[in-house]
Amino acid sequence: MKKLLHIVATPRDDGSRTLQVTDSFLEAFQKTHTGWVVDELNLAKEKLPELNRKRVDGKYVLLSGKDLFGEAKESWNEIVSHIERFLAADAYLISTPMWNFSIPYALKQYIDIIVQPKYLFRYTESGAVEGLVKNKKMLIITSRGGEYASPQMRGFDHQEPYLRTIFGFVGITDINFVIAQPMDMGQALQVQKIEEAQGLAKKIAVEF
Ligand SMILES: Cc1cc2nc3c(=O)[nH]c(=O)nc-3n(C[C@H](O)[C@H](O)[C@H](O)COP(=O)(O)O)c2cc1C
Repeated sequence: MKKLLHIVATPRDDGSRTLQVTDSFLEAFQKTHTGWVVDELNLAKEKLPELNRKRVDGKYVLLSGKDLFGEAKESWNEIVSHIERFLAADAYLISTPMWNFSIPYALKQYIDIIVQPKYLFRYTESGAVEGLVKNKKMLIITSRGGEYASPQMRGFDHQEPYLRTIFGFVGITDINFVIAQPMDMGQALQVQKIEEAQGLAKKIAVEF
């Protein structure tokens, strides 16, 4: 069985525009990918570990090329179990709205938890960064209140460039976006753009 890790970053459940698009993707995906299971990680429901002093100190130990021992290692158990869950997936689906031109804080916290040296990336002898998550695809489904496709607005979008950068950093370069926008500029436009995004999501699901 292959595994698709679905990371949900909207707290709006059945009120979510993003998840309307995701539902279409998953319906088509499950029909065409019978050998796959979907592991859903809902960041609004999951209590993520905090990056407190002890854990951040642990990160610097790993960055210096050393291993964690004793209490420092123990404090990392929850972090490591999130990393293992992430790495156990064969492909990724992220459902996230745009919040303040970027991503919701729960998704940022999750990224801060899993992006760790030795696990998701490493430094080679020449000092270059090597992403350790190889040959895995990612689809990011997002909705935004506004519209960021025009040249005047593109610079406000810190969501797509950030997600491409951070996941590219750990080795995931095959990243596709399905974007429903604008969602908060009238009902008719919202319905139309969700339908368009659903159509694209279904197409991608079949080829995923
Ligand atoms: C805290 C918060 C911040 C938001 N910031 C932005 C923003 O910067 N730009 C934008 O276009 N829409 C913004 N929105 C609107 C959402 O992106 C939009 O309504 C989206 O469709 C919500 O997705 P959801 O229904 O899946 O949660 C924001 C919404 C919230 C709740």
